[in-house]
Formats: sequence, C-alpha cells, structure tokens
Amino acid sequence: MAMIAKNCVDSKVTVVDLNQDRIDSWNSDDLPIYEPGLLEVVKAARGRNLFFSTEIDQTIQDSDIIFISVNTPTKDYGSGKGRAADLRFVESCARNIAKVGGGNKIVVEKSTVPVRTAQMVKEILSESNNGFSYQVLSNPEFLAEGTAIADLENPDRVLIGGDQSKEGLEAIEKVVSLYNQWIDRENIITTNLWSSELSKLTANAFLAQRISSINAISALCEATGADVDEVANAIGTDSRIGPKFLKSSVGFGGSCFQKDILNLSYLCQHFGLPEVAEYWDQVVRMNDYQKDRFVQRIMDAMFNTVSGKKIAILGFAFKKDTNDARESPAIAVCSRLLEERAHLAIYDPQVPKDTILSSLRLDANDKRVSFHDCATDAANGTHAIALLTEWDEFKKLNLKEIYAEMEKPAHFFDGRNLIDPIEVQNAGFRLHRIGKG
Ligand code: UGA
Repeated sequence: MAMIAKNCVDSKVTVVDLNQDRIDSWNSDDLPIYEPGLLEVVKAARGRNLFFSTEIDQTIQDSDIIFISVNTPTKDYGSGKGRAADLRFVESCARNIAKVGGGNKIVVEKSTVPVRTAQMVKEILSESNNGFSYQVLSNPEFLAEGTAIADLENPDRVLIGGDQSKEGLEAIEKVVSLYNQWIDRENIITTNLWSSELSKLTANAFLAQRISSINAISALCEATGADVDEVANAIGTDSRIGPKFLKSSVGFGGSCFQKDILNLSYLCQHFGLPEVAEYWDQVVRMNDYQKDRFVQRIMDAMFNTVSGKKIAILGFAFKKDTNDARESPAIAVCSRLLEERAHLAIYDPQVPKDTILSSLRLDANDKRVSFHDCATDAANGTHAIALLTEWDEFKKLNLKEIYAEMEKPAHFFDGRNLIDPIEVQNAGFRLHRIGKG
C-alpha cells in the first residue's frame, strides 16, 4: 500500500488495523517489520496520501477500493486442522465491509487465499442487502521478503482477477489503472477470479518444488561425490529450466511456502484429487527430510552425540534481510538439537530474542540457550557452528580468531553453502556443506 501511495499521488491510501501499537509503529520511524528500503518509501508518502489509522469503519465508508490484506494462517483447530487455510479474518473483514456500507465498492483480496474464497466474500456482500453493490477482485501479491521494495517497484507481473461481466471488467480496469501508474500495461495480467486465486498458490508451490528438487539432489550429491552447486549451475543454464531458485539449503522456510502447499493439497483432497494432493505433499516432506538430514549430519560428525556440547547458531531468520522467523528451518534444527541435549549459543542480526524464544517454545530463563550480539561472541567456547541464514555479514567472519576460541575438533556446518570453503578449512575447521561430499 505504501508503494501504491508513493506512485499514485492522486489516490489517498489509508491502512487500518485493530492493533493500536502496530499503527503507532507504522506512524513512527521504527516500523514493525524490518525490510530494506521500506522506511524511505513510507516516509515519501506518509502524511501526504498515505495514512495509518485504527478508524476502520470510517475508512471503509470513505473508500472506493478496499484491499483485504489480513493473514490466512494454517488452521490449528477443527476440520482441516494443520492443512486448510483459516479464513476467519477474511470473513470478518467481508462482514464488516457489508455492515458499514457507505457506497458501491470494489473489494480486492490481497491475502493469499484458497481458490473460490471470493465466492464467500461475494455472498456475504451481496446478501447483506445494504443497498450497495460490490465487485470482488483477486490481486495476489508476489513480493518476497528482503527484496520487497525492488519486487514491488519492478514486478515480473501484477495479476488481477475478476468477474468477466461488464461490471467486473470495469472494476478490473480501475485497479489496473492504479498499478499502470508505474508498471507497464503488458506486465499486468488480467484473468477470471478463480485463475488468479489459484495462480498464487501454484506459483508458491512451483517455487518450493524447485527448492525441494535441488535439495533432494543434494542428498544424492553427498552420497556420490557430485557437487550440488555445480549440478545446479549445469542444469540452470538450460533456458527451459533457468538458474533461479536452485540454491540448495538446509530447507525452505517462511510463512508462505509450507502453508500454501498444505492448503493446495487440502483443496485437491476436497475436490476428490488425492493423487494430486500427494504429489504436492511430497514437496513439504522433502523439506522436512532436508532439515532432519542436516541435524543427522551434525550428530554423525560429532561422534553421534551432542549431549552437553555447545553449538553456535548463526542466523535464525528464514532468509537474509528480514527479521521474520516464521517456519524458519532454524526452528526445526534448534529444536532437534535441544532434544539431543545440546546447548545453543544463538546470534541473528535482526530476529529479536523474544521471537526466537517463542519459536522454540522456551521461556526466558532456559539455561540451554544463550543469546549473543555477534557471531564471534556466540561461537566462543562452542564445539561447532551451524550457519542457518545467509546473512552477508557471515561472509566476513574472522574465522581464524573464531576457531582459536572453540573446542577442538571444531566443526563448521554451513547450511547455506555461504562461506568460502578454503578459508574455513585453512582456519582449521572440519567443514560440512550441503550437497558436497
Ligand atoms: C515467497 C515467494 O518467493 C514470493 O513470490 C511470494 O510472494 C511469497 O512467498 C508470499 O507468498 O508471500 P518469501 O517466502 O518471502 O517469498 O521468500 P523466498 O525468497 O521465496 O524464500 C523462501 C525460502 O526458500 C527461504 O527460506 C529461502 O532461504 C529458501 N530458498 C529460496 C532456498 O532455500 N533456495 C533458493 O534457491 C531460494
């Protein structure tokens, strides 16, 4: 919304939320999320045509276009538990829009939703009998965290789906005209509602599938002496395959991939397609296997036990340049190491201590974990380093100095194949990398 406000100076954009603290942070220079370049975009428009407020009903009344951008987590109760998307926040937005009224409106699903969610939104709005008419559109978001600003400024495409009726097509054009103020028309794709909703889940499923595919090959590389980065490079030069999203890792994380695949698979089950559901489930299973395998490698290398040993965890975010740790592979790796009675010395440049504690379901005075202000401090006195997030600063570690202060033999488990292997080995470490013998 900040990017729309920045580029569409004639439109007034108001972001509303129930949570006063969050709105206060959006109105300050201390934004509630860490995203490079975001503060500058917010500052360029805030107070001019970008506003943050808790006045939800008034804003609904005054707006011509409403983007529903609430979270749609995996359901943790009742039918579909652990797989289906929990749509109660989307539903309550739709009900609130219907209740408040205030004129004919375009309602845009921005949240990631299962295909046919718009039907529910439409029914709630049309059956409210408040005298106003609504057009429901789907406009999924494809930005990735850490690169959000560049992705929004210059997206591969913007996708807008809607009814193919005259009114539906007019509504689509209205939203197209917003994006068209900074994005070429040929990069704005318009479709029917269901194609747009399904494309979002499909894009994430394909991206995650590429990572699971290369991670599956990484296991075979470790067994055979092939090098996964060389294989990725060799196949990525085939223009039909392409080079992106072939970086083998300790596993993918983030709030989207796993949730969206589980949701896609749940939908397939719902529509009587169990074979299709199973096909996509395997992408998540392979990701779990990759995280397990990483821990197993640590165990194998450290004489089959980490009990009482201290391990430095470098990076807890699910990727670099974000403070987001949702579904981070670090959660699974750290939890397994704690089960094996290791002690963890954790450092991440951006993820707050409280987030790490709650992700690991630990309380603040748990003696098995300690938190540090830099990588060197975290590694001091440990038996091993596990690098789990590819933060740029980890490329500049003083490895000799770090090695000198560690227990021996000192291991370096590079879960992102980030560090120059020669330097790690020259410093004295036993090095273990993903997909390399
Ligand atoms: C992902 C998609 O890339 C976005 O297009 C989408 O809009 C977003 O989900 C969403 O649905 O909101 P995001 O989760 O922010 O974006 O980050 P990604 O860059 O996709 O990375 C996801 C995970 O895959 C990270 O843990 C990353 O380290 C891992 N990854 C990525 C790899 O292990 N290897 C790769 O080659 C690429």
